[in-house]
Amino acid sequence: MTSTVYYTATTLDGFLADPDDSLAWLMRQDLDEQGPQNYGAFFATVGALVMGSTTYEWVLAHLAETGEAWYYSQPTWVMTTRELPVLAGADVRFAKGDVTTVYDDLRAAAGEQDVWVVGGGDLAGQFADAGLLDGVIVSIAPVVLGAGRPLLPRRLDLRLEETARNGAFVTARYTVDGPLQEDRTG
Ligand SMILES: NC(=O)c1ccc[n+]([C@@H]2O[C@H](COP(=O)([O-])OP(=O)(O)OC[C@H]3O[C@@H](n4cnc5c(N)ncnc54)[C@H](OP(=O)(O)O)[C@@H]3O)[C@@H](O)[C@H]2O)c1
Repeated sequence: MTSTVYYTATTLDGFLADPDDSLAWLMRQDLDEQGPQNYGAFFATVGALVMGSTTYEWVLAHLAETGEAWYYSQPTWVMTTRELPVLAGADVRFAKGDVTTVYDDLRAAAGEQDVWVVGGGDLAGQFADAGLLDGVIVSIAPVVLGAGRPLLPRRLDLRLEETARNGAFVTARYTVDGPLQEDRTG
């Protein structure tokens, strides 16, 4: 069955990127590419992706810098209110507004595989608000930034399913229980 999973790296104090959207602190970390929660194994489970426009623009800038081609073969939705470029050969679709309106398309495109919520944190939160976020998988870098782009700015209860070490990272996989118990009524 298709799950909607937020898979990301984060600092110990819960930031995806610094206030200038830099990931330099992440790129220099020691990582075992075959180790726990590795990207290749996760990516093989993904049938469709969804990301916010800041993340998309970071990817575009990164590809322009490195000269690499678009690296997602799966259909990718970008949530934005703006008109943004698409690289040749990239299956990128734009959407805006309530994430429930793209959810059916994401699931249909994913088939038997999972939907990857790439980020940012508020977008993952929008899926959680709608009760559509099933899992959170994080690799926690040994870095604190004090400020930046938040990991998941919501109040949620998660259930810890698995944890391990990968190089410099603590890896953890959670299922999403729902709103924080203290916030539930009735
Ligand atoms: N550590 C990691 O592994 C990791 C993973 C993912 C991302 N990142 C980084 O973390 C940062 C995340 O940036 P961010 O927090 O700004 O989040 P983001 O989700 O990438 O981008 C937010 C923007 O997306 C658009 N958007 C989001 N939801 C929308 C909706 N429902 N309808 C229409 N538009 C919507 C809005 O911009 P517009 O409407 O103006 O376009 C919004 O300002 C980036 O620097 C990214 O590169 C890091």
